[in-house]
Parts: sequence; structure tokens; C-alpha cells
Amino acid sequence: MKNIIKSFIIAGLATAAYAKSPAPATAENLINAQRVSNINVANISPTDSIWRNAKSVAVIFYPQTTIKLNDAKANAANKDNKAIAAQVSAVYNNSAIAFKISWSDPTQSVQSGNASDVYPDGFAMQLPVSFNDPKKLPYIGMGSEGRPVLVHLTKATNMHYEPNGNGDVEHQVNPHNTNAFGADLANYKDKVNKLGKQGYSRAFISEGFRSMTQLKDGSDKFGMKMTYDAKSKRWTGVVAKQLRDGAADLSKFGALPVSFAVWDGSKYNRGGVKNLSTWLAVKLQGKAGGDALVKELTSKPKGDAKAGQAQVEAMCASCHTLSATKQAASPVMAPNLKNIGGYSTNAYLVESIKDPNAVVVPGYNRNAHKGFAWYNVDAKTVKRTSTMPPMMSDDKSINDAVAYLKTLKAEVAK
Ligand code: HEC
Repeated sequence: MKNIIKSFIIAGLATAAYAKSPAPATAENLINAQRVSNINVANISPTDSIWRNAKSVAVIFYPQTTIKLNDAKANAANKDNKAIAAQVSAVYNNSAIAFKISWSDPTQSVQSGNASDVYPDGFAMQLPVSFNDPKKLPYIGMGSEGRPVLVHLTKATNMHYEPNGNGDVEHQVNPHNTNAFGADLANYKDKVNKLGKQGYSRAFISEGFRSMTQLKDGSDKFGMKMTYDAKSKRWTGVVAKQLRDGAADLSKFGALPVSFAVWDGSKYNRGGVKNLSTWLAVKLQGKAGGDALVKELTSKPKGDAKAGQAQVEAMCASCHTLSATKQAASPVMAPNLKNIGGYSTNAYLVESIKDPNAVVVPGYNRNAHKGFAWYNVDAKTVKRTSTMPPMMSDDKSINDAVAYLKTLKAEVAK
């Protein structure tokens, strides 16, 4: 009798589990992409009905502190940057994937046509061009040599004009430059209006800062949009792309790594000075595969952070700045690590300690920055080699160091 009841209960549970689809797993850095029927890639919008069932998760964007700009005003404005709490949701179908991100920004900065002193707010999405090994993802700051990423970037801009084939913008946009009047002038103005572009969206392949190559051949089909809500002081950005295009084929995976970055124009953010997420795992609901990637990106560090701290402070602080309060090492010696735990994966940190040459962090140009000591460049092959010696050979020390490095991150802005 007891057994019969038991099997009834189990059967009941099993039916319930089948009736609903299995509840998506939740974990830090995990986004469940909901399957939808139609994604309008070119004209993706935050108000599309596709977002109705997409559940957003909290993701944190950490200040990137790897390099400093050659701009005292910008460096002062970004000195004590906090992390930004964002919300991310995703949807996909057989041919496309789309993300919606929203983040707080108390100041809306929009770039107008030719005002070069105003930096715009913006956001970007980054995907690896390929990712066979979830432990060897591209460097989070726009890829690195041999590990390229695909970057989609948009900025908040007012109507702006780009040169036509003749470089003849002046004539296109200035009605005084035409002899037309009356209906002809109205037609002319209409034409000028249509030539203007509202947004700035670009696709790049990048192997590190300063190696971005814009994709202009149209092989990469994507759409982006960002809208500001003055009441909540938040941006909402949407980005959609074909899973398969001339740059990458992401259609065969059950899970994808993705990362997002945001720029705050009021703090003169640009280039490498921004807030960014770590690699996030996007699980395509109902599609098989990708378990190793999800496991890797949602795993907690194994070591003992306290033991790691003692070792890292003794062995690494002569080259690396570890926190805002500890004694600072010279930025020309090595990258600042005060936010490294926020935007780096465990596997990346292990690799950085064991094998510094696996990813040589892209930095300043040695010719323009005297004394810059991050890497040597072979005159013949132009290949960069890290000046960091491999540190720590035993797994326990490395795991402890990684557990400590994961604690190095700015607090979240309220
Ligand atoms: C002799 C100076 C030196 C020492 C000592 C040193 N490093 Fe480095 N480290 C560097 C340089 C230079 C780079 C940048 C080039 C590269 O990517 O290897 C770097 C890069 C890194 C990175 C990648 C940073 C990023 O922004 O992605 C990590 C993580 C790191 N080191 C951790 C450590 C740890 C942990 C220790 C101590 C166990 C240590 N380093 C000791 C010089 C040093």
C-alpha cells in the first residue's frame, strides 16, 4: 500500500514536470533565452511583443580599470567608479538572437552632429567569433590576439550625416547651398532629412583595443536601439543579430557566451574606459548542448580567498595595483586589478597566473608611452610577449589566489 501511494506521488510529480516545461536553471551570470517565433532583427525595439515572456536577470557591469586614458579630466571623473546594476533578458529563434538590457544612468548624454566635446552614452554587445573551449574565451576587453570577438556598438546620437560617395556632406545638409526654392526646396529638404541617420550602430571584429576592424560588407545582419526614460533615469538598449552570418556561425550551440559594456558620456567614457560585464552564459531554452559552458561560467571559485590574499599581496603587488586603498603600483608596470574579479572568469584568472602569454592584455603603444612595461614586441614577428613571469605552480596556491582575485571589485552604485 505504502509503495503504491509512493509511486502515485512520483507519477504525479512526473506528469506535472512534463506538463510545464522544466523550470529554467538559475545561477549568477546565467541568462535563459526564451524561444520566440519572430525576431525583427533590423528594427528590433524594446516595445516588441517578443519580450513579453522574457525574464530579466540582474547582471553587474564593473568599471574597467585596465588602462588609463591620456586625459586627466577623464581619469579624475572615473577614479572611484562604482559598479552598475543592470537587467538583461534574451530571446532567440532558429535564425536570430536578441537581448534587452537596461541600466541606470542619471545623466543622459547624446552626441549632436559636430559637437566634438560631448561624449555620448552607448552600449555594446560582445560575442566570441568561436569558442570551442569554455576555459579559453577571448579576453573580456574586446578580445585578444588569436581570440577575436564580434562587437556590436551603438551610441546615443542626434540626427547626423555621413559623407556620400563624393564626401559631399555640406551640400547635402545645408539648404543655403542649393538654388532650389518653393516646392523644389521642400523636396530638397525632405531628401536631406532622409539622408540623416538617427543612430550610430557598428559591427567590428576585434582582437584587442585598437585592433577593431569595422565590418562593412553587410555580411553581418544586426539591429540596435537605445531609449532613455527620463523618469526612472534608465537606458534600455536592444540588440538583435542573425545567429549565422559572414562573421560567425552561432546557430549550432545550445548556450553562448556574451558580454555587455556601457559608456557614460558625462564621465567622458570612451574606448577602454567603460563598465562591462564578465562573460555571461546564455542558455537557449529547449535547445540541447552548451552544458560545459554554462557550468564553467556559473561556477564559484574553489580556493580559500584569505590564504590567497596573503600570497597575492606578497607576490603580485609590486607590479599590480590590487585595490583603491592599498599602495598603488605604477600603471606602466601591469594592469590595475582593482576590478578584475568583477569582469574576469575563474578560468581566465587561472590562465593569467599560470601562462601569462596565453592572453597578453592589450595596452598602450610602447612608442608613445615611454617606460611602458607590459610586454615586449618582437621586431620581426611583431608578436607580443608578456613581461609577467609565470607565477605559482601548485593548484592550491593558484585556486586560493583566484578566490581572492574574484573578491576584487567595486561595490554597486545605489
Ligand atoms: C613582474 C611584474 C608582474 C608580477 C610580479 C605579476 N604580474 Fe600579473 N601581469 C603583469 C603584466 C605586465 C601583465 C599584462 C601582460 C599580460 O597579459 O601578461 C599582467 C597581467 C595579469 C593579469 C591579467 C590582467 C587583466 O587585466 O586581464 C592577471 C589576472 C595577473 N597578471 C595576475 C597576477 C597575479 C595573481 C600575480 C601574483 C601571483 C601577478 N600577476 C604577478 C606583470 C606582473
